[in-house]
Amino acid sequence: MCGIVGYIGKRKALPILVDGLKRLEYRGYDSAGVAVLDRDIEFSRAAGKISALEDELRTFNHVNGLIGIAHTRWATHGPPTKKNAHPHKDSHGKIALVHNGIIENYSELREELKTKGHVFLSDTDTEVLAHLIEQTLEDEGNGHKRTADDFLHAVRLSLKRVCGTFGIAVISSDFPDVLITARLGSPIVIGVGDDEYVIASDASALISHTKNVIYLDDNEICAISRNGYHIASLENQVVSKTIEEIEWGAEEVQKNGQPHYMMKEMFEQPEVLLNSMRGRVDKENGLAVLGGLQDVGNRLREIDRIIIVACGSAYYAGLVGEYMLEEYAGIPVEVELGSEYRYRKPVINQNTAVLAISQSGETADTLAAIREGKMKGALTLGIVNTVGSTIARETDAGVYNHAGPEIGVASTKAYISQLTILALFTLFLGRQRNMSAVTGKRIVEELQLLPEKIQSILDQREQIRDIALSYKDTKNAFYIGRKYCAPIAYEGALKLKEISYIHAEGYTAGELKHGPIALIDETMPSIVVCPKDSVFEKTKSNMEEIRARSGKLVAITTEGNTGIEDIANDVIYIPKSLEMLTPILATIPLQLFAYYIAVEKGNDPDKPRNLAKSVTVE
Ligand code: M6R
Repeated sequence: MCGIVGYIGKRKALPILVDGLKRLEYRGYDSAGVAVLDRDIEFSRAAGKISALEDELRTFNHVNGLIGIAHTRWATHGPPTKKNAHPHKDSHGKIALVHNGIIENYSELREELKTKGHVFLSDTDTEVLAHLIEQTLEDEGNGHKRTADDFLHAVRLSLKRVCGTFGIAVISSDFPDVLITARLGSPIVIGVGDDEYVIASDASALISHTKNVIYLDDNEICAISRNGYHIASLENQVVSKTIEEIEWGAEEVQKNGQPHYMMKEMFEQPEVLLNSMRGRVDKENGLAVLGGLQDVGNRLREIDRIIIVACGSAYYAGLVGEYMLEEYAGIPVEVELGSEYRYRKPVINQNTAVLAISQSGETADTLAAIREGKMKGALTLGIVNTVGSTIARETDAGVYNHAGPEIGVASTKAYISQLTILALFTLFLGRQRNMSAVTGKRIVEELQLLPEKIQSILDQREQIRDIALSYKDTKNAFYIGRKYCAPIAYEGALKLKEISYIHAEGYTAGELKHGPIALIDETMPSIVVCPKDSVFEKTKSNMEEIRARSGKLVAITTEGNTGIEDIANDVIYIPKSLEMLTPILATIPLQLFAYYIAVEKGNDPDKPRNLAKSVTVE
């Protein structure tokens, strides 16, 4: 989604802003812009990629300002054109503002401001805020010479009139030594350097400058000068915040010689698995040691129901978690899409745990579901990758993925890590309840073997590539699986859709005969996730049904299950593991399958069209 960068310090702002925008590209966007304050504010905006903005900026050689703001926009209100790109300005071009989120009451505010003579140049909701600040400054001015404090006051008053969500950064040529930023529902991180500050909507935009950050919370506003910062609530109560240190470094947001972030992230998966488990297993006693759940350990013993809330791939991880938790911990689990949950009037009590799974920790739908759970008295938990993110901070307790920053829009390593943490969570709860130490030890042993097994699948990439490319021209595909591997079929289909733009449907294998099988013919391949597990024979029958209707079959099965070659056109083998852990292995070939088709078709798998990495609007 949209991205914000801002700078105030002793260096030229422009290169820092453009570099920050490039680091935010992965979030998804369709236009970009910058505003740098020299004597006046210099604006430059462009539709399309940041390279288009850089073309525009060729005329900016004279711009040496030490303060500025920049934005990548993912269109919500108004098409992705130059006039709708941020930064937006007030009537006199003295205020520049960038905004993430949605101003829901922008029409009323706009009409009100129009009656006071304001003229609007864009279709966006954001522009109204720049004008509102201008108007408020004027209304509150009383003819006195205005100071930076008045500017801050005007921004605060304006934000209090906004219904909706915002992360903003704003500067003014009348107050050249202050950058103001604020948030409500859309993240803002303030990077604290030596006499300089870089603010961003996402730490990856500022990590090359500093690892010391302050995370703004909702309803907080911060005025930053070169000498320091002042944080207060929108009600003007001073807020004291600690500076936190980001655990990862700039090198982790590089491609490390791989052609795409997605490839780099797929190859990191063996290590990600180790990192997700590091210090969290006690092999001798067959236990999971989850420090993040320690404080709620007793309450967890009391819960009688878990509701997992998530979106996209994280939702599919949750579905695997449902099988794990019910089988091994004996707790009833429901898995809900974040975007639907709150409309369900869910029945929750204090013995319910609502568990959010989110890579970004900022997904608006998942966050809304967690807030709903909290409001109704549930214990709220998070499996989150991004340290300091909103979901991580708003849940009562949780477990971080430690997967490192995931830049590719298509989730790979974070998804694998989510499955791993769910296995650990199952072990944790299972051992609190009836799971034997023997079973616990077995799970730990098998978990520890996974990194090597994942590597062995990655080592088969050439063979997987050849198989994938033989399906590159298909227009549609089915992905099917049963039990633990049904959600893996959904995830495989999502990966193909997202990056190769081929229509794919994920189904439970048993459901095909209830309707979708009508679509099977020689042009509709089915990718079948069918390890040799407790439901293999059933899935095999479904494969026969497809073959009988001339459908092509690609099987993902366990090593040694060579009989499958009589049925399937192509077979990819994965190492054997526990049934509950096999989804982790079965996902890898599906990621590679989608990746190779996408690249062959000339698509950029890191930045699929229309998609954003972190979906911060509902
Ligand atoms: O950051 P989150 O894990 O909350 O994101 C959830 C989904 O938006 C995300 O998994 C999405 O489906 C990915 N593009 C999948 O590859």
